[in-house]
Amino acid sequence: MSRKGYLHGFSNKEQQRLYTQAGFLEPWIYENIEFKRVTNLLEVGCGVGAQTSILLKRFPHLNITGIDASAKQVAQGRRFLAREIRAGRVDLRCEDASKTKFGDATFDGAFFCWILEHVPDPLAILKETLRVLKPGAVVYCTEVHNASLFLEPYSPATLKYWFEFNEQQMKMKGDPFVGAKLGNLLLKAGFQNIRTEMVEFHFDSRAPKQRAEFIRYWTELLLSGAPSLLRSKRVTKDLVKEMTRELATVGRSQESVFYYRPMQARAEAL
Ligand SMILES: C[S@@+](CC[C@H](N)C(=O)[O-])C[C@H]1O[C@@H](n2cnc3c(N)ncnc32)[C@H](O)[C@@H]1O
Repeated sequence: MSRKGYLHGFSNKEQQRLYTQAGFLEPWIYENIEFKRVTNLLEVGCGVGAQTSILLKRFPHLNITGIDASAKQVAQGRRFLAREIRAGRVDLRCEDASKTKFGDATFDGAFFCWILEHVPDPLAILKETLRVLKPGAVVYCTEVHNASLFLEPYSPATLKYWFEFNEQQMKMKGDPFVGAKLGNLLLKAGFQNIRTEMVEFHFDSRAPKQRAEFIRYWTELLLSGAPSLLRSKRVTKDLVKEMTRELATVGRSQESVFYYRPMQARAEAL
């Protein structure tokens, strides 16, 4: 997969950010994920293996096959999980998730996290996942819904940058609002017993330390898109600076609020 199709890029810094992000968000993302009855899990868009290692820690009985379209991500994931791969607990492969080499009904569970926002045809990937799942297998998808962002104090430079971030992703044929569409997509792909819920990131003066940490994380996330946005002239260096300053203010202010809600779906294969 080329840099062109992926807003965050594949630099070492960005790969490290994925590990930090997965660890930081773990308590929220995994609160309702349950793979107790799964033995053979497909992780779609495994990136550098950041979620894979959390999945293995939380569900030590799992065998995980992770696939990612980027050879660079898979190579890093293989280095990171070398011990687990040697132990036969993990297999990482470079594959396009919309057209895999797996046979029908190979897996009894599937896991997606922050991938469908980056693909031109999420439905094709969900249909392909359904093909390789056994009947009754469970799938969890955690995906962004970027219309849900709210910040207090009002931060116009950040909102302008956010608008351009989302526009850029759509120009790259991704979908920053895919979270809200998960129900429709899973239904159309042929899954059953579909449940969706919002994951809530809502921090205010009741938890000032957590709020400040979250805003630091969010600033890094937004800045990870800056090289791509600057290259395509969607934003200026001044806007990036102003956004960074605004976010620092949000992080410090006594009255500040951070609010963002991605979506998590659970469904079963027919
Ligand atoms: C934001 S990263 C998330 C990685 C991992 N799920 C995590 O949370 O750390 C998205 C990943 O999806 C991969 N990807 C994008 N399109 C794909 C496709 N068609 N098939 C498989 N992987 C894909 C990218 O290469 C990238 O590594």
